[in-house]
Amino acid sequence: MIGAVLGMQFGDEGKGKITDFLGDKFQVAVRFNGGNNAGHTVVVDGRKYKFRLMSSGALRSETVVLGNGMVIDPFALIEEIANLRDSKCKAEIKISKMAHVVTPMHKILDLKEEEVRSKLSLGTTAQGIGPTYEDKYARTGIRMTDLQNLEIVREKIETIFKMKQSLLSESEYNDPAAREKMASDLFEAGKRLEPYMEYTEVTIRRLYESGKSILFEGAQATMLDIDFGMYPFVTSSNALAGALSLGAGFPFRKVDYVIGVVKAYMSKVGAGPFPTELEGAEADRLREIGQEYGTATGRPRRVGWLDLPMLKYSIKMNDADALALTRLDTLGELDKIMVCTSYKRDGKELDYIPRSFKELEDLKLTFREMKSWGKLDAETIRKHDFDALPMEMKDYVSLIEKELNIPVDIVSLGEGRENTILRKGSRLSLLK
Ligand code: IMP
Repeated sequence: MIGAVLGMQFGDEGKGKITDFLGDKFQVAVRFNGGNNAGHTVVVDGRKYKFRLMSSGALRSETVVLGNGMVIDPFALIEEIANLRDSKCKAEIKISKMAHVVTPMHKILDLKEEEVRSKLSLGTTAQGIGPTYEDKYARTGIRMTDLQNLEIVREKIETIFKMKQSLLSESEYNDPAAREKMASDLFEAGKRLEPYMEYTEVTIRRLYESGKSILFEGAQATMLDIDFGMYPFVTSSNALAGALSLGAGFPFRKVDYVIGVVKAYMSKVGAGPFPTELEGAEADRLREIGQEYGTATGRPRRVGWLDLPMLKYSIKMNDADALALTRLDTLGELDKIMVCTSYKRDGKELDYIPRSFKELEDLKLTFREMKSWGKLDAETIRKHDFDALPMEMKDYVSLIEKELNIPVDIVSLGEGRENTILRKGSRLSLLK
């Protein structure tokens, strides 16, 4: 079975948790986009594991692959590999030689570019992701394989520095000695990572041909996709299911099952349009109950009601087969629950998501109120039985299934791996 897990909203839907939950059904876990702007949390037996670059499938799979479409901070990766080994994870790690390298200089550039954008700043994670992709497409980027040659690292750092000198002139990297030190640090990091480096598109193909089951884990989400998200308030990579073809070198035609991860309400970090956003006391309450603070940055997340028109779009764009619905436990703690059911402009219902500022300003949303199911007791969660859940919660799930014409195969009722229900009769439940 070849599967893919993708975020359907603005990120932070709980992809990490779902990827880990599915981990016992897949032998290989692959990341194909983004870098350590992602922050995925997995909780097993009360212990928290945080993944930034690794796939969250790492704890249970035999092999973890970091694909060519990723941008990798080698120092952060070395740390993450060490943490993983401390947690007794034995998965083999494979890093694409062609993934691009995030250097400390790119992090400075990320901050500087945000300053220049001024009113249009996006609120990036400041991990150097955007500037590294810029260099990739400018064909001046440093690839993982380049770290094996100090002379090439030096030359590329000098090229990037010259191209972006105006932004770097007040930083420590204006000093040639600091650039030289960065080059040698990167070279040293490259030596440590060399044993893991491969042409991973070939590795994945071999694993596929030997019959291994593979799970691709997308980072970020559809509404953060560089092409189809709320541009310019997006990340710098493609985050749709189809992006795995280019970000891992594996044909999307061979993917059997795409699961879209949806949070039962919406959240977003960073700036940009957010049609169903809540404000004031209601937002504060939801943020506190859900502890909605960024994993990567600690920033308070913006929160809002579930947006069905947006999900309709995301499901189509990813060709999702089923959904995993997370945070139902959190949402039930609110007394009033609303769901956005349509977008209208000039009195007409839209069957697309407007992404121009003008169109977004004129947007009118229709909401439907749903009955709350209250705080769940531990006993109900422990039963792992969808039928035993409160009627109001099942109505909420049914509304989503009916309006979006897609089954909700997984229901998540808490952060731990054990607080998850795989629906009886779903395709995944039939897999060994
Ligand atoms: P960047 O990816 O750091 O350049 O940030 C661009 C936008 O994407 C910002 O609004 C970030 O908050 C958002 N973003 C990037 N990665 C994630 C993520 O993993 N979860 C949620 N938002 C993200």
